[in-house]
Amino acid sequence: MKGIILAGGSATRLYPITLAVSKQMLPVYDKPMIYYPLSTLMMAGIREVLIISTPVHLPAFESLLGDGSRFGMKFEYKIQEKPVGLADAFILGEEFIGDDNVALILGDNMIYGSRVERVLKAASNLKKGGIIFGYQVADPTSYGVVEIDKTGKALSIEEKPKNPKSHFAVPGIYFYDNDVVKIAKSIKPSERGELEITDVNKRYMENGTLQVIPLGSGYAWFDTGSADRLSDASDYVKAIELRQGTQIACLEEIAYKNEWISKEDLLKEAKKYKKTEYGKYLEKVANQNYKDYKEIYESDLFNNITNISFK
Ligand code: DAU
Repeated sequence: MKGIILAGGSATRLYPITLAVSKQMLPVYDKPMIYYPLSTLMMAGIREVLIISTPVHLPAFESLLGDGSRFGMKFEYKIQEKPVGLADAFILGEEFIGDDNVALILGDNMIYGSRVERVLKAASNLKKGGIIFGYQVADPTSYGVVEIDKTGKALSIEEKPKNPKSHFAVPGIYFYDNDVVKIAKSIKPSERGELEITDVNKRYMENGTLQVIPLGSGYAWFDTGSADRLSDASDYVKAIELRQGTQIACLEEIAYKNEWISKEDLLKEAKKYKKTEYGKYLEKVANQNYKDYKEIYESDLFNNITNISFK
């Protein structure tokens, strides 16, 4: 499976911060925002990623992330001339996608939770159709909203409904089979003039091949589209990182744990950041011999998959 990060748009809701800077470059606590969606694709096991942004901002992403080789990955870049909608990602990405399945993640979305890696890996094994997620929010009116039955079957899906039929917002991470290119090309712009991802999802729902995975209270999902939500996401990352002494969206760590880079590669990266906590953390990860802990980290117990009983 390949991955696409959509990191364009005009981010007018964050003006004046984003008058001259791309939203997806803004810091979420200690890292550029795009690290978070990129880490999500990496946790899904996706190594080939297309990054799409505006003509003005794309060069900055290229200089931040390069060709991906330092993470044992391969990155490509593509300009989106105008923000004509999320589904445009599959039209722009047609050549990159080729005959593969593809995951799309929005450059301003971040998702976190102890079981998230398992869920993402399972989703990336999709054979046919589409997989989206449902996340309960207090006010779903500014999102795609999916209504599901108790088996997880989608009953309806609407974009920013005034009267939502459920509290399940659809986070900006989507897994599709290769038909998505054909579907994206066939949908028409909505009333607001955009090629809506919700219309793509509707098509899969009508074909009976859309699976919805509800994410319960053990997960955190943020989209960082407004100043308040951006600040909430930063506070969340800070709280977890300082409390646990771990890092969220540490790309080098994930690459190392995925066995895409060696311990030597990791130590080389650590040197680059040696004046920062980030650099010290990378060094610690390289020296703790992760493989000794691998079984524990990947166990059902650590991931709270089994029921824990006390005798
Ligand atoms: O965050 C999840 C929500 O994202 C979903 O629940 C909605 O169904 C989906 O339509 C989308 O809603 P938003 O109103 O948040 O989308 P927005 O226009 O803000 O774009 C999301 C990101 O994608 C943002 O970082 C900018 C980027 N983007 C957007 C468009 C329309 C592009 O790079 N190109 C585009 O053409």
